[in-house]
Order: sequence, then structure tokens, then C-alpha cells
Amino acid sequence: MNIVILASGRGSNARALFEWEKNGMFAGAKIVGLICDIEDAPVFDVAKEYGVEALHLPTLRKGARFSEEASINYQNALKNWNADLVVLAGFMKILPPDFVEAYANKMINLHPSLLPDFKGKDAIKQAFDAGVKVCGCSVHFVNNELDGGEVIAQKKVEISPEDTLESLEEKVHKAEYQLLPQIVADIVSGKIAIG
Ligand code: GAR
Repeated sequence: MNIVILASGRGSNARALFEWEKNGMFAGAKIVGLICDIEDAPVFDVAKEYGVEALHLPTLRKGARFSEEASINYQNALKNWNADLVVLAGFMKILPPDFVEAYANKMINLHPSLLPDFKGKDAIKQAFDAGVKVCGCSVHFVNNELDGGEVIAQKKVEISPEDTLESLEEKVHKAEYQLLPQIVADIVSGKIAIG
């Protein structure tokens, strides 16, 4: 199974995936590449550190959407890598319908909330500002509704009265570093069916 990661920023979740692979947790699969839409994103250094080929592919449109050309570029890159599974690990753009359909049930996204709560941007801050007592993270299949595809699994994080936004972000990220690689391992082993 060939895995490709899509990311936009810091790459701490990509790092967690590379670490799990390095520790033999994805036996029978390989992370063959990473695509990032932001030219100077730190995730490029992370990919380099783990010897994973990384491509910069801009989305060629202002805002969160792709141009038609960009969608083709992304799909061509995935075809060249023979991607069986696409993992959105901190990818901050909205995929166009033709792209979503091409990878239906083969593309998963990590989102830092207990979906369907707090969709969209700044989900951890949304939860913090709302004053909820429990938040967390979700991994779901990607469909054409923003953060709306079928949820595969979630991990809860308790918010204590002492938490600041920063301490809460740290807790949610820690949960993400366990949840996302575990789901990928379960897909690789066949425990979770894709495709
Ligand atoms: C993660 O918290 C991820 O859940 C979030 O971006 C962060 C990326 O961090 N994704 C979304 O908000 C998607 N809607 P990273 O670049 O350090 O992995």
C-alpha cells in the first residue's frame, strides 16, 4: 500500500506518521511522498529529515480553493506515486469535487475537534471559547462537505479550568499524534477497510 501525505504547515502530524513507519508500525505499506501547497512550510524539512520525497504544488487560486489546473496537478502526482491512501495531515485547503471523487473512501482527514462540533478553521480555539469541558480530535473520510465525511475514530481530551488555549492545543496535538497513526496502521493491517 502506497501512502501519500498532504500537509500545509508545521508538519508535526506528518512527523508522527514518519516515526510510526520508522518503528515498523505500517508493515506492508510505505509513505511514498508528501505534497504541500505552501512553498516554505516547515513540513518540507520534516520530510527531508525522514528521506521522503516532497513536492510543492500550489493550489493556484486565492483563498482556500483549488484551480482546475491545480486539481489535475495534485491528481497526477498521486497517480505517479500509485497512491492507495491519501492522508490529509494539517492540509488547509478545500479539495474540489473531481479530486474528492477520484479518491473516495481512500482519503482521510485529521481535524482537531470532536466532529460534527467545531468544523472549519481554528477548531481548538472554537472549543476553548465555547467553554466546553471535553474536546478532542477526529479522523474522517473526505467527502464534499467541509469536515463532513464519515467519522472513522475520535480521541477525547478533557479541558480543565486551568487550561489556557496554548495548553489545550498541546493536549489536542498529543492526542492527534496517537489517533492518526493508529488509524493508518489499522487501514494498513486491514482492520479498517478503505476503497
Ligand atoms: C493539526 O492540529 C490538524 O488537526 C489541523 O491542523 C494542524 C496541523 O498541524 N488540521 C485542520 O485544522 C484541518 N481542518 P501540523 O502541521 O503540525 O501537523
